[in-house]
Amino acid sequence: MSEEFRTVTRKKWIAHKSINKRTRRLSDKGYEKDFPEVDVDKFMVKLDALRERMEDSDYFTQAMVTLKESFAKINSKVEENSPAVTPKRLVCLGIGPFTRNFQALHQLAFILCTQSHFEIQEAIYFDPVFRQSEKEILQKLKCLVMTENCEGKYEADVYTLFYLPHCPNCLTNNLLWSNWQPDLLSNVILINNSFESLSCSKPERLLRLDAAYILDIMPYGEELPLDDDYEVQNIFNDLSVHIFPRGKLKLDDAAFWTKKEAPKYNDNDGEMISAEDFAKLSIA
Ligand SMILES: C[S@@+](CC[C@H](N)C(=O)[O-])C[C@H]1O[C@@H](n2cnc3c(N)ncnc32)[C@H](O)[C@@H]1O
Repeated sequence: MSEEFRTVTRKKWIAHKSINKRTRRLSDKGYEKDFPEVDVDKFMVKLDALRERMEDSDYFTQAMVTLKESFAKINSKVEENSPAVTPKRLVCLGIGPFTRNFQALHQLAFILCTQSHFEIQEAIYFDPVFRQSEKEILQKLKCLVMTENCEGKYEADVYTLFYLPHCPNCLTNNLLWSNWQPDLLSNVILINNSFESLSCSKPERLLRLDAAYILDIMPYGEELPLDDDYEVQNIFNDLSVHIFPRGKLKLDDAAFWTKKEAPKYNDNDGEMISAEDFAKLSIA
């Protein structure tokens, strides 16, 4: 099976199944049987053990080296002798239902270890499919959970590490759109699926439907691949760190930076859960 096929299948699975499950009636015992609510304290013990294994893994060690390298690249484009740039905030979107899905669970362990490795003070999470126990777990970990669906439109007013593993293109596209000025974009450190492989995956005409800002910024950003030799496959495949150092941005091209209206997407593709759909689910 090709990697592309597997990735698409997984995206569809999570986005559709999770949302369908949320819309089911509370009396639907089948879903509860397949995915019972976890015992939060027991889950924390399991997560602690996984975090220890993650910290000992070659994948994590190498990823920290790559991230440090990306921070240094941003730093070298700022002033000489200025303090090292490390993110002040972590924003994690679309990690998935981590008490019910092993890919999301390993990704959570990774990003928690990353936060503690770089001593990132503030961590904010959002996935429209989080259930109550998942929010409770994040709160126990001193992370914030967004109450509104910003659809990826989040401004990086400080150095911010964004973690969006295997997320819909629209989310990343919206993130770039909302940071479409050099001062903001150079604050963005983004881990998500490789822009390079995305750009080769389909004709440009199709990519522009949900990834126009990704394509437009690619020549002015830098991509550092995160080599995936993790013990479990198909969790960290195809992920890269993307940075947009000031020195590489087209600073003098005012037309390039003109802020346009927020991108609109064909909502039939079903991958990103819109703010409107999320509001309907929240009051259902
Ligand atoms: C393909 S899944 C990836 C899940 C997990 N990170 C993985 O690699 O298996 C895409 C995720 O994006 C989430 N998602 C959809 N719309 C979103 C939104 N507006 N904001 C944040 N996450 C969203 C879905 O709920 C789903 O968990």
